[in-house]
Amino acid sequence: MKIGIIGAGSVGKVLAKGWLDSGHTVKISSRDPMSESLFTWKEQMGPDCHIATFEEAAAFGEVIVLAINWSGVEGVLKKIGQDALQQKVIIDLSNAVEFSETPQLALKNTSAGELIQQWLPNSRVVKTLNMVGSATMVNPHYDQGIPVMYLCGNDAEAKETVGQLLRDIGWEDRIDLGDITRSGLLESLMLTCLISEIRQQEFGFAFALLRK
Ligand SMILES: NC(=O)c1ccc[n+]([C@@H]2O[C@H](COP(=O)([O-])OP(=O)(O)OC[C@H]3O[C@@H](n4cnc5c(N)ncnc54)[C@H](OP(=O)(O)O)[C@@H]3O)[C@@H](O)[C@H]2O)c1
Repeated sequence: MKIGIIGAGSVGKVLAKGWLDSGHTVKISSRDPMSESLFTWKEQMGPDCHIATFEEAAAFGEVIVLAINWSGVEGVLKKIGQDALQQKVIIDLSNAVEFSETPQLALKNTSAGELIQQWLPNSRVVKTLNMVGSATMVNPHYDQGIPVMYLCGNDAEAKETVGQLLRDIGWEDRIDLGDITRSGLLESLMLTCLISEIRQQEFGFAFALLRK
């Protein structure tokens, strides 16, 4: 599958490698696609990895992954334009967090996933992967078992596609929570995980479901 990744930070690169390793073709994009360090990284990823502008990655991908800071998402989507993303599957893994004394969700009575679906009414937004750290996003193996990966979105076929992509990077236990209004639950789960990590002074937590 052709995957366009918007953002070449830690998450964008980890996911690019995960999906390249499972046979997908990736176009990853940055505000500075000519950057030398990005080019060096791309050389290590092999011939199925390409660097591009945001617009080029959006045009290329059958699935588009939004992997930039929340503060940049609306502006970048405006720049790419709704038409270029029409009917495409959009993976949203952003977290709108404010760091004051303790971290808290920046959005009240809505969520990042819902807002992105509002901004892109003709695209098929699926929220997932936001509640684990980048080091856990690909091939999540824990001694205690397999973590769960939640997803939500309005379009069943889009969730099927994203479910397959999640499986390709090792998420064997996946739960579809329903439509995009469930995005807030996933964002709260991220905050629960983050605060747990801070209070325990341990990092790399992930949730798992125990079954009888
Ligand atoms: N890191 C994690 O463990 C983790 C886990 C779950 C979810 N997330 C979410 O994943 C997203 C990316 O996180 P990350 O850790 O990969 O961040 P990062 O390493 O800091 O990379 C951020 C990326 O966003 C781009 N960016 C930042 N502000 C921008 C703006 N105003 N306009 C356009 N591009 C902008 C940066 O562009 P340049 O390359 O041009 O600087 C960079 O490519 C965030 O929404 C975060 O909440 C992160």
